[in-house]
Amino acid sequence: MPGRVITIAQQKGGSGKTTLAVNVGLGFRARGLRVAFVDLDPQGSLGRWFMTRMERDPEACEGMEFATSSAWGISYECRKLTENADIVIVDTPPKADSDLRPALRVADLVLVPVAVSHVDLWATESVLDLAEREGKAALVVLNRTRTGTRLGAEIAQAAEALDAPLARARLANRVGYAEAMGGGRGAAELARTPARDELSALVDEIAQMLETP
Ligand SMILES: Nc1ncnc2c1ncn2[C@@H]1O[C@H](COP(=O)(O)OP(=O)(O)OP(=O)(O)O)[C@@H](O)[C@H]1O
Ligand SMILES: [Mg+2]
Repeated sequence: MPGRVITIAQQKGGSGKTTLAVNVGLGFRARGLRVAFVDLDPQGSLGRWFMTRMERDPEACEGMEFATSSAWGISYECRKLTENADIVIVDTPPKADSDLRPALRVADLVLVPVAVSHVDLWATESVLDLAEREGKAALVVLNRTRTGTRLGAEIAQAAEALDAPLARARLANRVGYAEAMGGGRGAAELARTPARDELSALVDEIAQMLETP
């Protein structure tokens, strides 16, 4: 079976797209699947992360590939990568315009991170609209949650009302996410991190939606 494509999209900058790309990709890799990462963002953070990982520990990149692509080249790139990879993760720039369309079109699932703020939530509908127009399943993931805050509860409630399922798993606001990224790693690879459980739960949900192991 050719690999599955997960596109990560959100118009709002800094919502956690690249963080999600890295940590979900590594989550699938840790389960023995081959993973390819594609960076569509000219900012190039995902590529920086991958190169840092490669320099630090090439063995930690086994079973993983990295590519960049233009917005319009993504369909060709994904066709090639899905021949070898079980999961292709496409990270996109913070936009929800016609440039995003090809990346949505190739997706088996669109992941939409929402950092816990009203501004992030407002930006979400346009991405969900685009995904729907392409007939794609989307999953909204709450990111940087802070339990016990009123804002957190408000956003979670409003996110339930969006036109796409909301992941049961949520990623908390943890310095480990930023720290791990800088070292070419994933948050679950840090010692004794509570991020491991939330990431594992999220990968479970995604795997279920994609019907992968
Ligand atoms: N759960 C989290 N806890 C703590 N920090 C986080 C979390 N998620 C993301 N961050 C931090 O927030 C910043 C933005 O995250 P990230 O780069 O993943 O967002 P993005 O959506 O890819 O941004 P852009 O739109 O610029 O591509 C980074 O510094 C990242 O380390
Ligand atoms: Mg990014």
